[in-house]
Amino acid sequence: MSTAPDSVVVIGLQWGDEGKGKIVDLLGADADFVVRFQGGNNAGHTLVVEGHETVLHLIPSGALHANTVCVIGGGVVVDPLVLMEEMRALAARGYELAPERLRVSREAHVILPYHKAIDQARERLRGKGKIGTTGRGIGPAHEDKVARTGLRMVDLCDESAFRSRLEQSFREKNAYLKDVLDDRVLDHGALVDELLECGKVLAPYVTDTSSLLHEALVAGKRVVFEGAQGAMLDVDHGTYPYVTSSNTGVGAAAVGAGVAPRLLNTVIGISKAYTTRVGSGPFPTELNDSWGERLRRDGGEFGATTGRPRRCGWFDAAVVRKGVRLNGVDYLALTKLDVLTGIDPIPVCTGYRRDGASVDGLPASASELETVEPVFEHCPGWREDLSTMRTAGELPAAARAYIDKVESVTGVPVAIVSVGPGRDQTIFLRSFD
Ligand code: GDP
Ligand code: IMO
Ligand code: MG
Repeated sequence: MSTAPDSVVVIGLQWGDEGKGKIVDLLGADADFVVRFQGGNNAGHTLVVEGHETVLHLIPSGALHANTVCVIGGGVVVDPLVLMEEMRALAARGYELAPERLRVSREAHVILPYHKAIDQARERLRGKGKIGTTGRGIGPAHEDKVARTGLRMVDLCDESAFRSRLEQSFREKNAYLKDVLDDRVLDHGALVDELLECGKVLAPYVTDTSSLLHEALVAGKRVVFEGAQGAMLDVDHGTYPYVTSSNTGVGAAAVGAGVAPRLLNTVIGISKAYTTRVGSGPFPTELNDSWGERLRRDGGEFGATTGRPRRCGWFDAAVVRKGVRLNGVDYLALTKLDVLTGIDPIPVCTGYRRDGASVDGLPASASELETVEPVFEHCPGWREDLSTMRTAGELPAAARAYIDKVESVTGVPVAIVSVGPGRDQTIFLRSFD
């Protein structure tokens, strides 16, 4: 896409899994850098190239483009064992990421084995009230970061300091696991050694990514910032407490990549043509019936990280409008339109009502959001298979009308329509100015 802007932030506008990986891979073809700026390996971003599927959890979705540098910014929480495994798996498929092509912030916090153990033990104790986390240690790693007791990539590369700090942390966390969470303690000796081995291998990748990106941006290089999760999983603005532990929006792109906000040019918000969510929490347009099963089946809605079935529902404009407002979204990428083929009419939620009165925006409390009733408009459906279409002109009139409806209920132009998981299964409606 020759019309790509210098810097573009790609973020999810729903509860994650909107197709960020696919869109970032597409935009990454023309990019000098692709940057992850928040989240960790709770993310699962799927790229399908020539029929071959790659799922990335930590490595940015520019990895399949030989000339694109992938950057893991300081706002990401990095599980070094997962990072090494992902690098190995990519290398085995011919996508070797030498240190010149993969840069990891020295400021990124490290997810340690006790973070995972604490995350999982707490979820077990919560029982029915669980958040439904991915169990990857994301919350506990952020807790340590904010408590100023975390260990960072720069520490991982400093063997003697890391060993003593980690041994101390293991003692504290093991006491917490045993006495408070009634869980088993971790045998830290072997784990510390394994982590230090990772530190040695990763050291050449660890650098000052903030300066690297600043210099790239002022030199007019093309940089794609790749969000993880989605607006409704944002720790401040999402459906708290059923959220992840980071901010997921454009502000987090500046903070997490360590670049000035004014260097971010264009914001692309991604939304599915319907809605999904994994884990617990309110979901006003959720379908607990055969329509939900149909969306799950036709959309292949199973988590890319945990394999859990995703909860499915109709498009919710109140949700997407909130993400648009929070992030100043310039353009939408509307994904999975192909999945709606054969549904007629297609309900679109335009807002909520409670006790007969319309509700303004989304209530802050999860329990209040549980009680709203979606208000639906019905759009005509179509029967044609969209997955082979490559231009707007080929789309049936009803599919075009559905896109128009999404534009009118969100107030944002749709620039990209995705009609299948493959790179080529994409229709560009507008260039980015
Ligand atoms: P991400 O987390 O936002 O990157 O999204 P995921 O990769 O977790 O989930 C999106 C899923 O939908 C993946 O399996 C993609 O391959 C697939 N996908 C992306 N775009 C489309 C599309 O337009 N149509 C269909 N049918 N599948 C798509
Ligand atoms: P991508 O980047 C969908 C959800 C979990 C859970 C909540 C908290 O692929 O869109 P966490 O492990 O972060 O503490 O879990 O957030 N969640 C996601 N849901 N896609 C994701 O990432 C997610 N990352 C976290 O299911 O409800
Ligand atoms: Mg995903």
